[in-house]
Amino acid sequence: MGLQVAREEELQEHVIITENLVKRFGGIVALDRVNIRIPKGKITLLIGPNGSGKTTLVNVISGFLLPEEGRVIFKGKDITRLPPHERVKLGLVRTFQIPKPFLNLTVLENVLVAAEGHPGENPYTAAVLRSKWIPFEEEAVERAFDILSWVGLYQKWEVPASDLSGGQLKLLEIARAIMKGADTIIMDEPAAGVNPTLVHELFDRIVRLSRERGVTFFIIEHRIGLVAKYVDYAYAMNMGRVIAEGPPDYVLNHPDVLESYLGG
Ligand SMILES: Nc1ncnc2c1ncn2[C@@H]1O[C@H](COP(=O)(O)OP(=O)(O)O)[C@@H](O)[C@H]1O
Ligand SMILES: [Mg+2]
Repeated sequence: MGLQVAREEELQEHVIITENLVKRFGGIVALDRVNIRIPKGKITLLIGPNGSGKTTLVNVISGFLLPEEGRVIFKGKDITRLPPHERVKLGLVRTFQIPKPFLNLTVLENVLVAAEGHPGENPYTAAVLRSKWIPFEEEAVERAFDILSWVGLYQKWEVPASDLSGGQLKLLEIARAIMKGADTIIMDEPAAGVNPTLVHELFDRIVRLSRERGVTFFIIEHRIGLVAKYVDYAYAMNMGRVIAEGPPDYVLNHPDVLESYLGG
């Protein structure tokens, strides 16, 4: 009885739970019994040197790879074998699942296209989007403007996406994920290709989205320390295993974590 209550509480507080995930590529054990728990409405960081298994873990959580062993639980439901788009419908979105922003469309149009399912995957549909402008429901347009204000792109709604900085493009990706119904967003190395001075702008918004809108973030980054100050909780992996977890300061200063980077 006590155990059951604890289990229920764990499911409420953690949107994603992995249980003993194992993934092998030939002789390589990319995931070696990985157990992680992603707290709801918080920002969780996963660090680890190149080749430690971070992207493989993200692929298993988002449904692009099937594990040989273990389970992925999302909002209390076993999703281990659910295809990626079914996970999206449940609110679990990895930003690259949303087609890349159309650079010739405006910021607002890009958000609206994301809501429409997949017209954006087809360049032809994208080209005729402007003529389809009217059918977008007023409600969708209103929601798109709301989301743009949350991510700090409201003033830029009319600007073509090609005018955005690298950091703003990441914010547009987040806006599109939320428009699609995401409440849990996974980003694999979002700071890559973003001017270091703009990393702050990006993460400042990510922090506000979690604090003010309850969005859960799972952020992967291999550079140690780069975004640690913005996150609530951290995991470190090396050679397919979780080697440390806890508050970011603890994890980043953990001797095994420091050593794993020296070894890499
Ligand atoms: N599709 C694949 N086929 C074979 N080996 C892979 C594949 N994907 C990843 N690996 C191997 O699994 C290990 C973990 O890789 P990865 O998850 O990409 O690490 P990270 O994202 O931390 O850099 C590495 O040894 C990598 O070479
Ligand atoms: Mg990777």
